[in-house]
Amino acid sequence: MSYELAYSTFGEEEKQAMHAVIESDMFSMGKNVKEFEQQFASFFGKKYAVMVNSGSSANLIAVAALFHRAENALKAGDEVIVPCISWATTFYPLHQYGLKLKFVDIDLKTLNYDVDELKKAISPNTKMIVTVSVLGNPCHFDEINALCEQNKIILFDDNCESMGAKYNGKYTGTSGLVNTFSTFFSHHISTMEGGLVVTDDYEIYCLAKSLRNHGWTRDQDEGSPIYEKKDDDFFEAYRFILPGYNVRPGELQGALGLTQIKKLPRLIDQRRKNAAYFVDKFKDDKRFIIQHEVGESSWFSFTMIVSKETEITRNQVFSALDKHEIKYRIITGGNFLEHDVIKYINHEVTKSDNASYAHNNGFFVGNAPIDLTESIDLLCEALHAI
Ligand SMILES: Cc1ncc(COP(=O)(O)O)c(C=O)c1O
Repeated sequence: MSYELAYSTFGEEEKQAMHAVIESDMFSMGKNVKEFEQQFASFFGKKYAVMVNSGSSANLIAVAALFHRAENALKAGDEVIVPCISWATTFYPLHQYGLKLKFVDIDLKTLNYDVDELKKAISPNTKMIVTVSVLGNPCHFDEINALCEQNKIILFDDNCESMGAKYNGKYTGTSGLVNTFSTFFSHHISTMEGGLVVTDDYEIYCLAKSLRNHGWTRDQDEGSPIYEKKDDDFFEAYRFILPGYNVRPGELQGALGLTQIKKLPRLIDQRRKNAAYFVDKFKDDKRFIIQHEVGESSWFSFTMIVSKETEITRNQVFSALDKHEIKYRIITGGNFLEHDVIKYINHEVTKSDNASYAHNNGFFVGNAPIDLTESIDLLCEALHAI
């Protein structure tokens, strides 16, 4: 037996959904994508969702949209606070649009912002805070929302690894002015590749739709606030208003999304059952710090950080996992400050000790919406043998 990092969630329904698209012979963005966007927004109690080809693209067009608002637009040089641990494409669009990144340390237990450090990092130049609920575990949104409100700071919630998680009964990915999701294969629902921008702000919704589609006016509503329609159909048909991208999803992805969103509650439920088993096995094991749940995590995976008190090393752990065919990997992207690419990024760091510790002593093993009892038993056996 082996224990993988991720497992497919596709069954007959997904094959049928893809087959129906093939039969229709209509592959580029159309009614399935639109219907999925509506269902996705409504599932999360938000007004608008814009689907794109990845979570990374969702971050890109969400940042771009914030630069093109009529009022309170971001501008190059503004300061944005980010956590030290996240995925690379949380950071890249911020850098690419000329923002200055201020990195804040994480809490070793939750793996999310150390909220005291976050408070200290806020300056008069801070225009935006990016929250990342790491691996399904919600950030402390009440406190962070309050900080944003008090200081007139935009909240951007990169929820790409935490679909279905809740803080104080409210879904993560719904508190920000903009919120992003990923539907990549290993995530809570899969459209193979895919992502969404979710917002209640109509202007941002219109901007995001144009930015994903060549900066074109093609799928703008009548009365869109981001441009004024003229009386010349010839030019109106190919009118470009924003320096945008082509990051559209296809109909296969839209159809998969429609099938998968129906399953989301069940998929999360199974992930939580696995998590309860994992936590029960490791909560008293002093050799490891496991992720401390805040609110209701949607448990992307199970993190383990070799604790300072133990004599075992991470390499010993890796050898044991290899021997038992248990796959493991870095926690999200690790401490981003430790990657070579950081030399290109205009940034400042307040403190990063915990992120470094997690980077150099931590790892995660997989969770998935299937019963992982035997895999977790195998993990216990492997770690017991060290
Ligand atoms: C926090 C975070 N943001 C963005 C992304 C990018 O999503 P995608 O892989 O769909 O591009 C990921 C990917 O896992 C992520 O974890």
